[in-house]
Amino acid sequence: MDEAFIWQEIGEKGFRELVAAFYHRISGDDLLGPMYPQHDMEGAEERLYLFLCFRFGGDTRYTEQRGHPRLRMRHMSFRIGEAERDRWVELMSAAMLECDMSPEARSVLEAFFTQVADFMRNQGPP
Ligand code: HEM
Repeated sequence: MDEAFIWQEIGEKGFRELVAAFYHRISGDDLLGPMYPQHDMEGAEERLYLFLCFRFGGDTRYTEQRGHPRLRMRHMSFRIGEAERDRWVELMSAAMLECDMSPEARSVLEAFFTQVADFMRNQGPP
């Protein structure tokens, strides 16, 4: 995957906009909304934002604050099956469309999010 291309095109500002558009959808979602901490949606938004800056830009703020991502382990306390995975990717894809992003960047990110979302699944067929 071309991390440098994504970072150059989207950068901090773009990821900030993307997670805002995504969490706006999460808050109103019947399936995923209740899983997230209603009292700390800003914190949740910040964690995903910093993770994306770490993953694509090598920014160290996420690991300084949260340590090694260990994302699969951190998602174990949530019930994530195919429906939750598909909804997450659907909301993220809608958020990407809302943001001003080239089709190339969108397709690279879509593949990344789809793969990671399936890796987070802890219910249903392997
Ligand atoms: C498959 C469906 C998914 C569900 C249902 C889900 C749900 C959640 C929930 C409920 C949280 C806790 C919110 C918080 O307080 O931070 C969380 C945290 C997080 N998620 Fe997901 N997630 C999914 C997929 C993903 C994917 C695909 C990524 C990355 C590409 C991701 C990255 C993160 C990160 C970075 C955190 C914060 C981890 C931390 O530092 O504690 N999640 N997720």
